[in-house]
Order: sequence, then structure tokens, then C-alpha cells
Amino acid sequence: MVLWVFGYGSLIWNTGFHYDERLVGYIEGYHRVFYQGSTDHRGTPEYPGRTVTLQPAEEEVCWGVAYKISKEEDKQAAISYLEVREKQYDQKAYVDFFTDSSGSTPAVSGILVYIGSSDKKSNKNYLGPASFEEMAKQVVTAEGPSGPNRDYLFQLEKALLQLGCKDAHVMALADEVRRILSQDRKIS
Ligand code: SIN
Repeated sequence: MVLWVFGYGSLIWNTGFHYDERLVGYIEGYHRVFYQGSTDHRGTPEYPGRTVTLQPAEEEVCWGVAYKISKEEDKQAAISYLEVREKQYDQKAYVDFFTDSSGSTPAVSGILVYIGSSDKKSNKNYLGPASFEEMAKQVVTAEGPSGPNRDYLFQLEKALLQLGCKDAHVMALADEVRRILSQDRKIS
């Protein structure tokens, strides 16, 4: 059986495993939010960064990419790799993935997606909602082994625009981070 993986965050521009096909599309019933804390990639336990997770949202869709992995050895390597990389995400879901805007027939059924739930018991790094100003301040200061948190945000914004997706939440946070950075430059 072929494995399909849905990427809606850094998996869009930094895949890290072998795949046979990449499709642009969306999943239904979720929206992308910067509510997941990252202490292993884009922050530290002292200063957690913010990365994206999915929040259930009726009537909404989340755009991203689907990766098809066919060969047995590639599937095993991808899963081993993702289980480490996405270890701060406490849930795995298998959902439908669509490529056509009518959303009638899924292009892929049962695509794997990693989610950081809002349950603080199973997802101890969950940060949850905050004002854009507060989230942006965190993003400006946080940095982890995978690099500055702001780079993650800006790369995601760019990767989504390249897919043709204007994600209002991502763009509002990126604008707020740019505003803070330009103020800091004026002061120093
Ligand atoms: C994803 O990319 O699909 C998961 C979230 C992330 O690693 O940024």
C-alpha cells in the first residue's frame, strides 16, 4: 500500500524524505494556527517558539501539499524520520485530501497528518491562542536547533504564496513580526 503524507507547515518547503509525487491541495474541517509550542526545532524549553498546528474548524479548509511514498524502504524511512521530527505533535489523523475546488471527490483518502492537539495532558508544548502582538514577540525572540522562529514563519508564508494560498492568519502574524523588527531597527 502506498503512503500519503500531508504537509501544512515546514513539510511544504523542507520535506526530508524520498517521495514519488507531490500534489498541491487541501484538507477540510481544519485551519492552520500558530498555536503549537516548539522547544526542539524553533525554540528552547526556556523560550519556546511557535509553529503551526491544525485546529478543527467546520466549513474551513487548510491548503498544503500531499506526498506519495510508494517504495517499502522509502515508507519505512519516512515514518521513522517523521516520528522523530514531528514528535512534539501528539496526534496522527488520516483524512481526505482534495485537489479540485468543488471538494466532491477526494484525490487521496486516508492521508496521514500530524497534529498538535489542544490537550495539555498529551501535548505539553501546546501554547494556544494569543494576540498577534504577543505571538509575534515570541516568534521574534525564539530560536532553536532548526533556526530562528521568524525564518520558519517567513518561509511558510512564502511557500504558501507559491502554492497560491493567502493564509490570513499566517500573513497577519508575519506582518506583525515585520513591524516589530522594523521598530527594533529604528531604535538601535
Ligand atoms: C507539517 O509541516 O505538516 C507539520 C508542522 C511542521 O512541522 O511545521
